[in-house]
Amino acid sequence: MQFVRYGRDNSSQQGICRSVFAKLQQLYTLHCTEEDPSMEKFFPRLWCMLTRYQAFLGQQSQNTQAALPIPVFEAISRLFGVTFELFASPLNCYFKQYCSAFPDTDCYFGSRGPVLDFYPLEGSFEANPPFSEELMVAMVNHMENLLKEATGPLSFMVFLPDWRDPPTEALVRLEASPYNRRQTCVLPFEHSYRNGMQHCLERDEDLYVKSAHGTLIVFLQNDAGFMKWTPTSEKIKDLLIAFGQQSSHRRPQPQ
Ligand SMILES: C[S@@+](CC[C@H](N)C(=O)[O-])C[C@H]1O[C@@H](n2cnc3c(N)ncnc32)[C@H](O)[C@@H]1O
Repeated sequence: MQFVRYGRDNSSQQGICRSVFAKLQQLYTLHCTEEDPSMEKFFPRLWCMLTRYQAFLGQQSQNTQAALPIPVFEAISRLFGVTFELFASPLNCYFKQYCSAFPDTDCYFGSRGPVLDFYPLEGSFEANPPFSEELMVAMVNHMENLLKEATGPLSFMVFLPDWRDPPTEALVRLEASPYNRRQTCVLPFEHSYRNGMQHCLERDEDLYVKSAHGTLIVFLQNDAGFMKWTPTSEKIKDLLIAFGQQSSHRRPQPQ
């Protein structure tokens, strides 16, 4: 555990795992070398970001931060060319490019701002939204608009809870979307997520938490996206195998 101290007498303190600290140092170097070559603002900015998430998570279930397993990120990058997370934080991101809720504190660590203010024209993206029904519906609207306006191949891999009793509006909308090229499901208790508090866990054994719900995976793609990143049966099989490898205790390095 690495401690970040702040205040005149260092009285304010935040704990963070060394591996996450190393990732944040790498992200900061990548994004702030020109503006802060001596890294003198690194610790104050790190402290502000950690304090923001501590305040936010104090009122939220840590499930809003649960992340896909590392082998799944490796698989979607290899199989579907994904290089960007649409819902993330500097603490849970796997890729060095991502959107997050708090641009003022997160931009120094590579955030491109909130997903609904992000307008890509092409590319391959992963989305694992927090379990907020309003945000999930807004996400589907946003993705469909982007797919309509795209100038090149565009693909979204969406991961969300397979809640069907009753089904959520976002789930119904995704399944009925004209851009839905394929969908598949991972069964409850047969996969895990990375703990939403992964950045401050003391024991690696707590890193993965079994999912009590199924996870639905939907591919929303325009024609060019479908041609470039076709979700073939073979690739889906490889993806589901990756979900079975979640017991690995590895933590992410920025990709
Ligand atoms: C379920 S976690 C996803 C974890 C991991 N990045 C992944 O893709 O598996 C959802 C993340 O989205 C972030 N988030 C919340 N509102 C957001 C918004 N409007 N834009 C982008 N990210 C947001 C949350 O703070 C949280 O870190």
